[in-house]
This record gives sequence, structure tokens and C-alpha cells, in this order.
Amino acid sequence: MLGANLLRGERVYLSTIEREHIPTLTRWYQNLDLQYLLFMQPVFPLSEQEETNWYEHITRDNSHQFSIYVLDTNALIGTCGLHGPDLRNRSSEVGISIGQPSYWDQGYGTDAMRVLLRYGFYEINLHRIELKVYSFNERAIRSYEKLGFQKEVVARQAIFRDGQYHDVIIMGLLRSEWRDVRE
Ligand SMILES: CC(C)(COP(=O)(O)OP(=O)(O)OC[C@H]1O[C@@H](n2cnc3c(N)ncnc32)[C@H](O)[C@@H]1OP(=O)(O)O)[C@@H](O)C(=O)NCCC(=O)NCCS
Repeated sequence: MLGANLLRGERVYLSTIEREHIPTLTRWYQNLDLQYLLFMQPVFPLSEQEETNWYEHITRDNSHQFSIYVLDTNALIGTCGLHGPDLRNRSSEVGISIGQPSYWDQGYGTDAMRVLLRYGFYEINLHRIELKVYSFNERAIRSYEKLGFQKEVVARQAIFRDGQYHDVIIMGLLRSEWRDVRE
């Protein structure tokens, strides 16, 4: 039984997103480098009101959004979640953002996604998990490949960023292909 360890990885744990996190989230998303990697819409400084609207939306819809904390220090470093799982087809899109760039490339994001996959497959009983990533986001692609995601679809030149078109890649992972470290 995983019990209380369901949402605990080797380096991070997942918890709730609280209203008091909104100023921190706003500060993260005011970093256009971060938006560049995440949003299809034009990058633009985000206001606290827009972040509040997002927070209120996720508390009402059926997405499962989590905050990400470092196990050793209890530092809040990002968010991740399942976006509106489709329970008939047992499929969901996922997303992740380590908001503080100083925490990138240290394994925290991959560990958080590993915990999210465990939640999706073991707790929500998903059959398939997918995500979209921009072709220039090599760090994210590498992180997802380490977890077993495969590149399935390339939407050619689907995002216009920084004066050029780039591909959007859909990566997918089936339950049958995924192995939890505890299995
Ligand atoms: C994407 C993200 C979740 C990955 O988490 P992370 O903790 O940084 O990832 P990890 O440290 O586990 O792994 C990153 C891997 O990419 C590699 N990498 C970093 N920059 C790279 C580059 N330019 N090209 C290729 N590989 C790169 C690292 O070496 C590492 O691989 P390794 O473990 O084999 O050495 C995190 O960086 C993040 O949130 N980034 C900003 C938002 C974002 O891009 N979200 C995803 C949108 S689809």
C-alpha cells in the first residue's frame, strides 16, 4: 500500500494549491522565459487577477492540480496536474511547471511528473496520459522521455514564437508501458 506515500516522490511531494500561493505563482509567470515554454498565446506579463481567475477556475472544474514542494526544505517550486481527465476513455492531458528556474535541471520536475503519473494511473485509473510540448523545449522533452513518454504526433509549425514557427509535439504514455519505481 502506498497510503500517505502516494503523493511523495524521492525529492518532492505534491500538495494542494492554496489561495495564499497566488502572489508566488504570479511572480513566477511574470517571467516571460517561463511563459515562452508553456503558453500557446502570446507571452505577456500576467496580473495577479488573471492568476486568481485561474485559481478559481481550477477549484471548480474537474482538473486535479497540485503544488510541488521539495521534500528536504518544504520550498514551493512549481505546480503540475491532470487537465480534466476524460473518464470514459480513461485519458488525460498533464502539465507541469517548475516556476523557479533555479530549480530546473536538478531532477525535481521529473520526480514530480513521476508522482503525478502514479496518481493518474493508480488513483484515477487512467489508461493513457498525454502532453503537448514545443519542439524547442529540449529540457522538457528529455525529462518526459526519461519517464517513458513517446513522441506520437508532430503538429508542424503549430506555434509562432519569437518570430518563427515551431512544431508542437504530442507525447503519450500508456499504463501498460509505465513502471512505477515501487513496482
Ligand atoms: C520541464 C521540467 C518539468 C523538467 O524538470 P527538471 O527537473 O528541470 O528536469 P530534470 O532535471 O529531471 O531533467 C532535465 C533533463 O534535460 C536535460 N537538458 C537540459 N537542457 C537541455 C537541452 N537544452 N537539451 C537537451 N537536454 C537538456 C538535462 O540534462 C536533464 O537530462 P539528464 O537527467 O539526462 O541529464 C522543468 O524544467 C520545468 O518546469 N521547466 C519550465 C516549464 C516547462 O518547460 N514546462 C513543461 C512544458 S511542456
